[in-house]
Amino acid sequence: MAAVIRALASVDATAYRALRLEMLALHPDAFTSDADEEAQRPLAWTEQRLATAPDKPHDLWLGAFDGEALVGCVGLSGRYRAKERHNATVVGMMVHPRARGQGLGERLLEALLARARALPTLTQIDLTVTQGNDNAQQLYERAGFTVFGVHPAAIQVGGRYYAKVLMVLPLREVGA
Ligand SMILES: CC(C)(COP(=O)(O)OP(=O)(O)OC[C@H]1O[C@@H](n2cnc3c(N)ncnc32)[C@H](O)[C@@H]1OP(=O)(O)O)[C@@H](O)C(=O)NCCC(=O)NCCS
Repeated sequence: MAAVIRALASVDATAYRALRLEMLALHPDAFTSDADEEAQRPLAWTEQRLATAPDKPHDLWLGAFDGEALVGCVGLSGRYRAKERHNATVVGMMVHPRARGQGLGERLLEALLARARALPTLTQIDLTVTQGNDNAQQLYERAGFTVFGVHPAAIQVGGRYYAKVLMVLPLREVGA
């Protein structure tokens, strides 16, 4: 698929919200966010989420577009307390079922990591993936992420608990 990957902005809020609500409902155990809870939020919340903010330089969203249609996205969410500013988390990785298995997830992740490496104060990236979501975990392992722990019963969906695998990718030497 000749999809184009570009940064998302507030103008993409309607498309991003629609993709996200569909994916949260389709894969409730893959995400910590809940489809019903998120559907209650107004479009303005999504617009705010996609807006760039000077005080949050590590927050960004990328989208994959097949023509005009948003078919995938991934985000980076920074942490801004002084002692942990060098960390950011990959969030909201999703590719619509009709666009999967063609390398879009990998392209989105690589594009996000390229932008993360260009941020001088960022030294490592972390993420969580539901235990058993092997497609996603393998995607992250191919990009260089390694497992550093497991959070038992991290989320509860429909009365069942799921563990989250914790992964990290150093972007540069930190000498720790
Ligand atoms: C996880 C997810 C984002 C992967 O997206 P994707 O676009 O299918 O990812 P890729 O195409 O890059 O890789 C997926 C597979 O396709 C294969 N692939 C990549 N390019 C390919 C191509 N051109 N032709 C055929 N297969 C290809 C990859 O080798 C990979 O195989 P694997 O599953 O055996 O490891 C997607 O499945 C998804 O949205 N899942 C539901 C939500 C979710 O779990 N999100 C992660 C939350 S942590």
